Amino acid sequence: MKKILVTGSSGTIGTELCIQLSYEGYEVHGLDRKLPQTEQNGLEKFTQLDLLEREKLGALSGDFDLVIHLAANARVHNLVVNPDLALENAITTHTVFEFVRKNKIPRILFASSREVYGNQDTLPIEEGRASQRFSQSPYSSSKIFGESYCYAYKTVYDIDAKLLRYSNVYGRWDISDRFVPKLIRSLRDNAPFIIYGEEKSMSFTYIDDCVSGTIQLVRSWDTLPMEVNVASETKDRLVDVAELAKRMMGSSSEITIGENLPGEVWNYQANIDVLKKTGWGPKFTTEEGLKLSIDWYLKNA
Ligand SMILES: NC(=O)c1ccc[n+]([C@@H]2O[C@H](COP(=O)([O-])OP(=O)(O)OC[C@H]3O[C@@H](n4cnc5c(N)ncnc54)[C@H](O)[C@@H]3O)[C@@H](O)[C@H]2O)c1
Repeated sequence: MKKILVTGSSGTIGTELCIQLSYEGYEVHGLDRKLPQTEQNGLEKFTQLDLLEREKLGALSGDFDLVIHLAANARVHNLVVNPDLALENAITTHTVFEFVRKNKIPRILFASSREVYGNQDTLPIEEGRASQRFSQSPYSSSKIFGESYCYAYKTVYDIDAKLLRYSNVYGRWDISDRFVPKLIRSLRDNAPFIIYGEEKSMSFTYIDDCVSGTIQLVRSWDTLPMEVNVASETKDRLVDVAELAKRMMGSSSEITIGENLPGEVWNYQANIDVLKKTGWGPKFTTEEGLKLSIDWYLKNA
């Protein structure tokens, strides 16, 4: 496996993934509707294209060993407010699977999410426990759509499809209003910060662990099942993460608690034994990842 197309290459995960894949010797072609975030992006080639304009994809050479499909509207709350964005995810996913089929590309890796597990009482959660019954939001449904395409295209067209489920990835390149970037910006400015859901707890995953896990999946492709969790193993309350960051930054921000927002999963811890059997493991504790993230945001964002 040498030549890889990464959709969503200008996003948080895509940016670091393309850099690291190129260090590892892969030939990486990026595709995104936005320009790359950095010039040192590891890309052999870049195509700026909105996947909703399906007809334009025909101009792209289909000579790839693998497509990693990251491109998506990736903020849960935005899709609650505007479910049309979930439909866009389904359309772009269909477009990418069709690109793979028509060009006889042998493999596709679909970026899914822990959202497909919903809220479950027994933690940590292993791969077999996802179900459409747990869908809490249009975002989650758009991921379930993509996951079902992995099975459908494998069955009907014999495409070697896999899916990985990320969880709360944070760290450099994320300039969005997700929890960690927003928290650090607020703490830096000593501004008030609201946490939606007092007990909300997640497996936060530092960007380098997310990317090393993704590359490990690519390297160990033939030995792994179709569904793989890539995350940290721990579970942190958002409240505790916020208090820790506040102490680290010496901020005087007031942290308050609001109601959990509709559509948001509030209880998750990943079981990552499947990927760990290949010799991979996350390297960063939440404290270490937060420290590195704070340093990056104070310098760059
Ligand atoms: N970051 C996380 O915590 C997390 C957790 C679970 C799953 N995921 C999934 O992993 C993937 C990558 O996440 P991310 O954090 O890098 O997201 P991101 O929002 O930072 O990046 C997504 C990229 O996709 C691009 N994109 C979206 N729609 C497009 C379209 N129609 N055509 C072309 N480009 C398009 C955007 O421009 C953006 O650069 C997404 O599929 C996301 O749903 C992320």
